[in-house]
Amino acid sequence: MKKIAIAIDGPAAAGKSTIAKLAAQHLNYIYIDTGAMYRTLTFKAIQENVDLSDDQKILEILKKLDITLTPDFEVFANNENVTDNIRSNEVTNNVSKVASIPEVRDEMVKRQQELAVNRGVVMDGRDIGTRVIPDAEIKIFLVASVEERAQRRHEENIKKGIESDLEKLKAEIKNRDKMDSERTSSPLKKADDAIEIDTTSLSIEEVLQKILTIVEQEV
Ligand code: CDP
Ligand code: CDP
Repeated sequence: MKKIAIAIDGPAAAGKSTIAKLAAQHLNYIYIDTGAMYRTLTFKAIQENVDLSDDQKILEILKKLDITLTPDFEVFANNENVTDNIRSNEVTNNVSKVASIPEVRDEMVKRQQELAVNRGVVMDGRDIGTRVIPDAEIKIFLVASVEERAQRRHEENIKKGIESDLEKLKAEIKNRDKMDSERTSSPLKKADDAIEIDTTSLSIEEVLQKILTIVEQEV
């Protein structure tokens, strides 16, 4: 069976990473979480007390930053395990600012493209189908209503025992989607040749099956 690249894009909490991980497991492919890369850089910049509007300083940090994504979904920044740190509210609320810096995106895209050279990869993010792997054999654009996406994050927080405010989550998700869609350098956008799946009223299993059916037709 030929190995392909599967690009999964879409707004926050549409289910990209959940579905991408399951699809990769099923196909025995590598899963690349590009959001984790932008989150790692944001975490390091906060840790080093850098002014987040200082684009040059953030770029300098990135140049010295080795980001490793392990097969069991751990994230390392220069050998420091940052898997949990990069999911903090502070990182979530600042990552879109850091990800809007064009030079940061150029460098991240270069690193992501190297990871996809050998195919056999499921990569999720915002610009995978449009910029990182424009020739991906399969492009999926996952969407869901903002109410449903906020509800999903809310339930995740409750499960983890984290304090959660549904209305605040909705506002944060809307804000991040707006910044991600309006930036000049590779904004969040459905590729012309991407297949859109609205997951609002679908289960994880239903979304996975839709994608695996599309893959079966291709490989
Ligand atoms: O999982 P969630 O939707 O919370 O976000 P994520 O995939 O972890 O991505 C975090 C942020 O990184 C996004 O809101 C974007 O600002 C940025 N990002 C990006 O600009 N381009 C990508 N390919 C992936 C993420
Ligand atoms: O990566 P992204 O931000 O797009 O979403 P995620 O981190 O995978 O989070 C989606 C959340 O919604 C997870 O808690 C999933 O269990 C849940 N969910 C889903 O992903 N897909 C559905 N069809 C239904 C629920």
